[in-house]
Amino acid sequence: MSSKEDKPVEQSQSSWKDFIYNPRSGEFIGRTARSWALILLFYLIFYGFLAGLFSLTMWVMLQTLDDYTPKYRDRISNPGLVIRPKAPEIIFNRSAPSEYKEYTDHLEAFLSKYNGEHQQNNIDCTPGAYFIQDNQPLPKQVCKFERSLLGQCSGITDQTFGYSEGRPCIIVKMNRIIGLKPKPTPFINCTAKKDDKLSVNYFPENATFDSMYFPYYGKLAHEGYVQPLVAVKLLLNSSDFNKKLSVECKIEGSNLLNNDDRDKFLGRVAFQVKVTE
Ligand SMILES: *[C@@H]1O[C@H](CO)[C@@H](O)[C@H](O)[C@H]1NC(C)=O
Ligand SMILES: *[C@@H]1O[C@H](CO)[C@@H](O)[C@H](O)[C@H]1NC(C)=O
Ligand SMILES: *[C@@H]1O[C@H](CO)[C@@H](O)[C@H](O)[C@H]1NC(C)=O
Ligand SMILES: *[C@@H]1O[C@H](CO)[C@@H](O)[C@H](O)[C@H]1NC(C)=O
Repeated sequence: MSSKEDKPVEQSQSSWKDFIYNPRSGEFIGRTARSWALILLFYLIFYGFLAGLFSLTMWVMLQTLDDYTPKYRDRISNPGLVIRPKAPEIIFNRSAPSEYKEYTDHLEAFLSKYNGEHQQNNIDCTPGAYFIQDNQPLPKQVCKFERSLLGQCSGITDQTFGYSEGRPCIIVKMNRIIGLKPKPTPFINCTAKKDDKLSVNYFPENATFDSMYFPYYGKLAHEGYVQPLVAVKLLLNSSDFNKKLSVECKIEGSNLLNNDDRDKFLGRVAFQVKVTE
């Protein structure tokens, strides 16, 4: 009985073996060695050709690019605003340093590139005038932005940036845009949304991004460029504690857009603050 059952198993095994290698026809998985070699050769040439075509296209594309200025700039776009510390909500207990340490550490790290040692080679530019260097050799010169311009928000006199007194500093910066020349001088205006009242101090006092920091010539051409900053100290008092304030900062006074319906970061930035004690 068992030999009857074994037979078909043996047969199927032998045909399986034949399929892998058939000694009679010399076929390996249904094809002769010659046929396999031809197929392999075909694919080798085919993929080699595709890879060559791809490399050639890339090479031609790259030849047309300039390392120093982006190729496609049909119009100079408007900059977005961002804040430091980078957080949509700034929530902390002013009596608990561990709660605001991440914010002050972030500010300190961000401002470290404005320290004197990083600004040694930067020059004192003329306030109120664009620093045009179109025909100057590369790399372009960089205007100094002294950290001390940020006064009480510089972290120099108050290492807690006001967080320990519940009057936190927020730093507003504008994204870099090559060739941008805002006209006239833009300034930052921060207000509380809804019906909340908010007093703030700006550093520098006039809250402006001076023209001398424009235009920016690009990452490679303008190595070490430092963006101008405006620090905003939120003058909260005890009636503002324990509730969430929505604050919006806008760039005003210039031709830069700040109320695009589709892009809520274009020329403005909103964040929430809640200080407990
Ligand atoms: C804030 O921190 C202080 C000191 O640690 C504590 O006494 C107080 O209860 C905290 N306040 C809140 C609202 O958590
Ligand atoms: C700042 O914005 C508020 C609200 O839009 C406005 O009332 C105020 O006049 C602005 N401040 C300046 C200096 O333009
Ligand atoms: C708190 O500040 C607001 C404006 O920022 C002011 O109107 C109010 O009088 C201040 N309250 C106290 C208790 O100082
Ligand atoms: C703003 O203040 C800075 C520093 O105090 C000064 O250099 C600059 O000329 C001022 N800008 C305007 C437009 O008043």
